[in-house]
Amino acid sequence: MNALLKPLEMGFRPMVQEDVESIVRIERASYPYPWTLGNFSDCLQSGYSCWTGEIEGRIAGYWLVMFAVGEGHILNCCVAPAWRGRRFGIQLMEHLMQVARGHQTEALFLEVRPSNIPAVKMYERMGFETIAQRRHYYPSDEGREDALIMRRLL
Ligand SMILES: CC(C)(COP(=O)(O)OP(=O)(O)OC[C@H]1O[C@@H](n2cnc3c(N)ncnc32)[C@H](O)[C@@H]1OP(=O)(O)O)[C@@H](O)C(=O)NCCC(=O)NCCS
Repeated sequence: MNALLKPLEMGFRPMVQEDVESIVRIERASYPYPWTLGNFSDCLQSGYSCWTGEIEGRIAGYWLVMFAVGEGHILNCCVAPAWRGRRFGIQLMEHLMQVARGHQTEALFLEVRPSNIPAVKMYERMGFETIAQRRHYYPSDEGREDALIMRRLL
């Protein structure tokens, strides 16, 4: 096949502290209440599973999960705005699930804003279901916003 026609694939590698500045730039462009550099550094220092997805040698996405016995809690999962809508969210999630299975994870959990339609749809597409709602969980311009708690059994 002509190399130019090959679909782009994300290359995954564990996140390192030197990545955090670029990641925070993506984070700020992605969330109304973005994580800080310190939040990412803390996750790295805590030994959470933190991965970057690169396209053409540049960071284009990332995911972070806290694994405990049999469970994984998705803390963050993000595709840089320029690369959205091209299946890289799915690639991130597939990689995350592959790593989770390596940790003998039986269930993945996450919280998401109900107003974050692209994320809710992506998680549903990846087999997550809403199992509960946490009232007033997130800060929002209108005060507080609830969180959906979603779960995917592996
Ligand atoms: C959520 C996010 C990761 C999706 O990444 P993406 O690369 O654009 O998603 P993909 O192209 O892989 O699409 C995967 C699925 O997501 C859903 N989706 C993605 N963008 C969507 C949109 N604008 N509207 C509705 N559904 C959307 C669809 O179900 C899509 O599958 P389909 O097209 O077959 O129906 C991306 O929008 C993002 O990084 N958002 C900011 C960070 C964030 O909110 N993360 C989640 C925190 S809980």
